[in-house]
Amino acid sequence: MNSSSQILKPSGSKHKLFVYIVGLTAALSGLLFGIDAGVISGALSFIKNDFNLTTGSTEMVVTAILIGAIIGALASSFISRKYGRHFSLVVSAAIFSIGALLSATAINVNMLILVRIFLGIGLGIASSTAPVYLSEMAPKSIRGRLITVYQFMITLGILIAYLSDAFLISYSYSWRWMLGITFFPAFLMFLCVLTLPKSPRWLVLLGKVREARSVLSRIRNHDEIEDELAEIRNTFNQSAPMASLLKSRQFMKVLCLGMILQIIQQMSGINAVIYYAPKIFQYAGFSTDTQQMWATVLVGLVNMLVTIVSIAYIDKLGRKPILYFGLLLTSTSMLCLGYLFHIGLTTVFAQYFAVALVLIFVCGFATSLGPIIWILCAEIYPLRVREIGMTVATVTNWVFNAIVGGFFLTVVNSIGIASTFVGLSILSYLSLIFIIGFCPETKGVSLEKIESNLMAGNSCRKLGG
Ligand code: BGC
Repeated sequence: MNSSSQILKPSGSKHKLFVYIVGLTAALSGLLFGIDAGVISGALSFIKNDFNLTTGSTEMVVTAILIGAIIGALASSFISRKYGRHFSLVVSAAIFSIGALLSATAINVNMLILVRIFLGIGLGIASSTAPVYLSEMAPKSIRGRLITVYQFMITLGILIAYLSDAFLISYSYSWRWMLGITFFPAFLMFLCVLTLPKSPRWLVLLGKVREARSVLSRIRNHDEIEDELAEIRNTFNQSAPMASLLKSRQFMKVLCLGMILQIIQQMSGINAVIYYAPKIFQYAGFSTDTQQMWATVLVGLVNMLVTIVSIAYIDKLGRKPILYFGLLLTSTSMLCLGYLFHIGLTTVFAQYFAVALVLIFVCGFATSLGPIIWILCAEIYPLRVREIGMTVATVTNWVFNAIVGGFFLTVVNSIGIASTFVGLSILSYLSLIFIIGFCPETKGVSLEKIESNLMAGNSCRKLGG
């Protein structure tokens, strides 16, 4: 075993427990990511009736949280650098808790939109801080796995949101409960985050070496502490040329790669399905709210179950073969859906076939673009500028999430649902071509090797060697 793996391998139940708590915290932000993104789809038709929403204001209610998330993701670099990653997570959990209560008690659509922007700020801060905090607390050896578990928790959050929507539709028809229910996981996250230590790397950055040593003594073996502390101090001592690294061609290359990968993830149309699933099933001929909601629950369930399967195969089969497989499924299922809507869903068989195609699309996304885009973005940036790279990637994700969420209904209303699906399918086929030509295969390659390949001038495709 080499010295770096010795440094990073936690052992002893005390240390494992701390790593577990850190993982749980990140997972809780993933859970809130999923719940807040998913809960609106079931609540939407009731909010629409209560507040007489137009198509424009309906889209605004959906998009408000995404606009907030962009602001939050941008603000998070500053907050976590100046006040710490721990403080950022506490702030985001507080925003989630207060926002959940305020959105449940909104008196008109304007208040609801403002509260959802506020909630989104929490979401943006959490979604870009949690991976950074995680990477600074966790041993490198389990960082990749935690990112996949984080994605799994996003899908679990979406499923919980759908289930609560479906039960509330069946039993009470109250959208206020649907939005208010997020208070419970948010408050749980708040309590958990309060118990976590500050990031030792951030403490070293501030020159608080004694405090960093004391945190490390809680999460590493006694004989690992000084070596790791020295490694962290070295890294930050070398961070002076960060400004020139930021301007380098190499960093620009991976910055663009990360942004394009996030655009590909969002332009697959996943959030058209996640946010507007009941509406899509309504177009497919399922006329009652209950039918639409239970078909939507099936979407959430398949999304979550397939993500579990992908956890098992991601490190065995490699990123690229899984991306090829997933993108072929997403593009082809969208094309078939477009054709089906074009010829018209006149029989019950055609209606169920449409549901099956939506589920095949979700399978394709959950095996590939869902987890792998976040994994690749966590792997491709050099250590010293990883936080900045991740912030840019996260903002790109939310911007394109907002574009899809904000314009899906408008596009459907102007060109029709069949052409919209065919358009999304063409984008997925183009994404497949990009992945073949430019995406690296990073399976089994260390982060350091990826960084040295980048600095040696390798093309994006050759970053894995
Ligand atoms: C995406 C989200 C999406 C979710 C669906 C995530 O990886 O970033 O936008 O809603 O997967 O499972």
